[in-house]
Amino acid sequence: MVTKRSDVRMIAPRNEIRATPLGVLRHYWRVADVKAWHLVLPIGLILIASSFEGASFALLIPLKDAVAENSFDFLEQSRAFGWLPALVPDRLDPSTRDAYLVLCIAVLIILGRIGKLGFQYTAELVETARNERYRVCLGKETFGRVLTFGRQYFDGQAIGRIDAEIGWSSSVIGLLTAAQEAFRYTVSLLVKVGVMMAISVPLSVAFIVTLPFVQRLIAAVNRAVKRISEEGVEVDRQLRAQTLDILGTIPLVKAVSQEQTASEMYEGVLRQAERVAVRRHRAIGIRYPIEEITILLTMLLVQGVFIYAAGDFRPADLAAFGALLIILQQALQDYKVISRLSLSFYEELPRLEAVAGLFSDEGKFIVASGDRTFGGLEHEIEVSHLNFRYVQGPEALRDLNATIAAGKVTAVVGSSGAGKTTFVDLLTRFYDCEPGTILLDGTDIREYSLPSLHSRMAIVSQDVWLLNRSLRDNLTFGLEGAVPDEELVLALSDVELGDFLEDLPEGLDTEVGERGVRLSGGQRQRIALARALLRDPDIVILDEATSALDSVIERSVADAMKRRLTGHTLIVIAHRLSTIRDADLILVFEGGRIVERGTWEELIERGGAFYELYRAQSEKDTPASWHPAR
Ligand SMILES: Nc1ncnc2c1ncn2[C@@H]1O[C@H](COP(=O)(O)OP(=O)(O)OP(=O)(O)O)[C@@H](O)[C@H]1O
Ligand SMILES: [Mg+2]
Repeated sequence: MVTKRSDVRMIAPRNEIRATPLGVLRHYWRVADVKAWHLVLPIGLILIASSFEGASFALLIPLKDAVAENSFDFLEQSRAFGWLPALVPDRLDPSTRDAYLVLCIAVLIILGRIGKLGFQYTAELVETARNERYRVCLGKETFGRVLTFGRQYFDGQAIGRIDAEIGWSSSVIGLLTAAQEAFRYTVSLLVKVGVMMAISVPLSVAFIVTLPFVQRLIAAVNRAVKRISEEGVEVDRQLRAQTLDILGTIPLVKAVSQEQTASEMYEGVLRQAERVAVRRHRAIGIRYPIEEITILLTMLLVQGVFIYAAGDFRPADLAAFGALLIILQQALQDYKVISRLSLSFYEELPRLEAVAGLFSDEGKFIVASGDRTFGGLEHEIEVSHLNFRYVQGPEALRDLNATIAAGKVTAVVGSSGAGKTTFVDLLTRFYDCEPGTILLDGTDIREYSLPSLHSRMAIVSQDVWLLNRSLRDNLTFGLEGAVPDEELVLALSDVELGDFLEDLPEGLDTEVGERGVRLSGGQRQRIALARALLRDPDIVILDEATSALDSVIERSVADAMKRRLTGHTLIVIAHRLSTIRDADLILVFEGGRIVERGTWEELIERGGAFYELYRAQSEKDTPASWHPAR
């Protein structure tokens, strides 16, 4: 068979994303389909809310002036507040007029606050709807991205760590919200500073000048927060990894009564998290007091200098200082929020960096999909000079050469760890192989698209994979379109699960539990076999697929499989050699190589490695005894 190497067209999964926080932000921006109005609308609403707030604060000015002058007469000349006296009915006598005016101003202040709160609430609703939509887009994108990683990536990672990193995609939304909140509070702060300016220019200037100075003062605190947050991110990963690791191995934990140790290990990580959190809050907590004290001291100093320079103070100054303190108190609240939000940037950055790591292809072992459609195997699978080494492991396959004929049964045998599973995992493209080492009908397997390849293949692996869903979902997972129940029932009865199904009160809707815990080992294996049958595949790979079945069931399942899979290409890995007696070809693996090949009779006659395996097993057909020697 000729290799069409010149035709090799590979499509690497498109990854033009720069794996930096900024690159990821840009990518997420595209993914979430961010429109200008998503940002403008809430900001516009916030501005309207702020103008209501500004108006409500500005009304303190005439009140303050009235206190200083002990009358509202100055309003007649006021350009900003000249309209206020018009609110008072003419018929009121002068003494009640002022009281009425105070009441009017108070009502207007309250109306201003109500307006502010109303618009602020609307802005929050708009923002929440937008953020939650973004969260779905980003979560889906990140999860989808992780699913493109190769099996080797998952082999080398604790699931909890990956889970934690996927969750951090939302930290981008945290940053967006923080930026928007910072904008809102900055506007609100500016409004207050404006009013403060109107009350007292020097004091307001003192306030404004202090802010950047204060920011410089706490730069060291910010750096510390970022450093501690980086540690926090690592602890979060460990925590998730520990939780999922322990919960995922409950039977083992219980079997060896390690509940206490497991919970102590968990406590260990929690303690670490505790230390990080305390240190973080210590750093964050000190920020605001530093800021507020510096601001207040500066303002008092400036006020003191004024009084000292004037040699006296007038009631108007006192009224101004009083009004200013009211607004300052509010302004400091705004400032506190802005300051806290600017910190969230330092807190979120390490998370964003971790998410950015997911968008780099390095160490992800992505198996690229080709662009040819695999239409089925007609002639053979050819394996030539195939080598494979796990990243974290030994060389698993060495210079493998084999031809697996279409429509025939090929058996793979050999001692444990010989490389049998690795071999079939390369055929199914779980792991990537070198170009030209596996050819399907002469075409490099890497040229085929993964979905088209997998739609023609079925694998029943050594470890049965079941989803925590119903029997029906497990059987039809990966199949397109609805499958009639009759077909499911037929497949189940072919694997001798017909009676079992009848006994289930909920039938096909029975939940099988996490990894199928509610089923016996043999039942799990047979469900995997039924699933393979339903795919009606071209190439079937059975990796120790009947190892958990008793001989009687194994025989009838094997017969049904043979009946249904005649003419299909079958690759069977088996330790129990009796099951592969009729195989058209037997490949004998040893230490990552094929050391023998041939039919059963040929191999027995040769008296080599296979014969040794066979002899060892026949001897053990008086099965290995578990009784201790007496
Ligand atoms: N995910 C992995 N990462 C690192 N090394 C691995 C991995 N899977 C298998 N190996 C190693 O590769 C070698 C071949 O393993 P493989 O699973 O192919 O053996 P096998 O012939 O299927 O054995 P068994 O009959 O016990 O299933 C072994 O030495 C094993 O330790
Ligand atoms: Mg194996």
